[in-house]
Amino acid sequence: MYATEILEEKRLCNIGSYEERLGGFNWAIAEKEMGWGRGDPLNIGWHLTDRICRLGLARKPALLWEGSDGRERTYTFGDLRLLSNAVAAALSRLGLQPSERVCLFLDRVPELYIAFVGILKMGGIVQPLFSAFGEESLLTRLLDAGTAAVLTQKKHLGKLRRIRARLPALRTIVVVDAEGLALKDGEVALDLDSEPRLERFPLFPATAETPSILHYTSGTTGQPKGAQHVHHSLVSQYLTAKWVLDLRSDDVYWCNADPGWVTGTSYGIIGPWSNGVTQAVLDSGFGADRWYGFIERRRISVWYSAPTAIRLLMREGTQTAKRHDLSSLRHLASVGEPLNPEAVHWSREAFGLPFHDTYWQTETGCIVISNYPGMPVKPGSMGKPFPGIAAAVLDPTTLEPHREPGRVGVIGLRPGWPSMIRGYWNNPDGYAKKFANGWYLTGDRATVDADGYFWFVGRDDDVINTGGHLVGPFEVESALLEHPAVAESAAVAKPHPVNMEVVKAFIALKPGFTPGPDLEIEIMNFVRKRLSPIAMPQEIAFVASLPRTRSGKIVRRVLRAAEWGEPVGDLSTLMED
Ligand code: PRX
Repeated sequence: MYATEILEEKRLCNIGSYEERLGGFNWAIAEKEMGWGRGDPLNIGWHLTDRICRLGLARKPALLWEGSDGRERTYTFGDLRLLSNAVAAALSRLGLQPSERVCLFLDRVPELYIAFVGILKMGGIVQPLFSAFGEESLLTRLLDAGTAAVLTQKKHLGKLRRIRARLPALRTIVVVDAEGLALKDGEVALDLDSEPRLERFPLFPATAETPSILHYTSGTTGQPKGAQHVHHSLVSQYLTAKWVLDLRSDDVYWCNADPGWVTGTSYGIIGPWSNGVTQAVLDSGFGADRWYGFIERRRISVWYSAPTAIRLLMREGTQTAKRHDLSSLRHLASVGEPLNPEAVHWSREAFGLPFHDTYWQTETGCIVISNYPGMPVKPGSMGKPFPGIAAAVLDPTTLEPHREPGRVGVIGLRPGWPSMIRGYWNNPDGYAKKFANGWYLTGDRATVDADGYFWFVGRDDDVINTGGHLVGPFEVESALLEHPAVAESAAVAKPHPVNMEVVKAFIALKPGFTPGPDLEIEIMNFVRKRLSPIAMPQEIAFVASLPRTRSGKIVRRVLRAAEWGEPVGDLSTLMED
């Protein structure tokens, strides 16, 4: 039985064993290593570039970039420093003020990574959004954040132009590849290749509590929430990247997450660069041979991926991996969904290395539970809390930690580590609800075993986790209701062999509309265009009516339980509010 087998890891991590690191831990270790408190600036943008250059690494490659069309670019830490200064200056010239929200609506092009640093340097709040978002997803998030500027590419400009009239706070759209384009009022071009590189820029004097990034994440109710990160997050992201991802100075690191999601910023920008580590970026979608070719060409040594991607690779078999020289790989880690034991065993066959599961959330900002390098891996377990993070499985009723191992409860974290978000944008009540009895409640259920390893059980809410991306049912249902044929709808998770879950919609039609495959496809496409390919229902069931509570709220749990073959439970209590 896989799950009970323990994989001994002889190798020691970067910095010492898990047990050694637990004793006497405090976050000041990272602050000290980074020179924090010696009068250095606290601005993350400075720490990712100027501080690394001060260490004598200005000529070291920071970004090895490959585009979908095969184009390649390399940027050193010196380039990053000067170009991010140039972006910061350009944005200031456009009248953007510190604390204004500046959205990155870009594919994974170099401009995204450079502008991320530049916005932080001028004191702006970076709002990264997935470039595949449709108009509705974009509008909701830009409206909520009161975004003042958006950086984008020609190919995504149409979506912004179509919603612009509904965004009163949006003053400027900056197009990073505007050549040959007729710009309209309020649109400007910013071409990094021709922009003069700037030796000096008056850095915004961020404090630890200055807002840095606003990441939108989905909940069960209401529209997505803006998770508000601050500059102090750097401390946790630096140290977890070093100790959990085991980053070392000669590594070439690859995080295949898009910076529209938190993994792509915490560990796709801040983690590696604050450690002065070279990272490679591939701006194209999944393809087993393409990915292996990238690892081979770029000599990737540390790879941070996700279970859905690993399952896609598994489908291709180990022979596809064996056709490539992947001997550069040294450490593998995964995040976003439960990592099944089979994936850990398969990766040992394919790469000679196990994937190390890590667990965290947009809200936590950094890895909080993980298989620490050098610690025995129990395949299927998320591992143990990072030193400095107090985690427990709580009895759902008393919210006290379970005394005996093996009992299912809610994962609670003691608040207070540097990268915990400081609030939800415009939504203090939503944030306050996440805390009780002195714990931050993750909303995930787990067990903890006698050795202190955590085992994921499931989410405590109706949020759908598809391929590691959270989709809020409310957002999908709201989009569905805008379709002329839809009277009412419910979106729930349906099990899926690769993506773990996909969206399934139950729809009651308005009179005069007939269910059928054409209408099903039309409605799916309607959601894909409005929201995103991820939020699009993969299946639609037309029903006469939906299960409701006595006061009329739709009970998604009943529909979900049927999809998962789980008992529905006592319907009389389920139907109560
Ligand atoms: O349900 C958990 C799941 O993803 C959620 C967090 O999603 P998000 O805020 O988008 O951040 C994703 C990347 C950090 C969690 O509440 N999740 C994340 N990691 C794991 C996981 N579920 C099981 N095992 C994991 N390792």
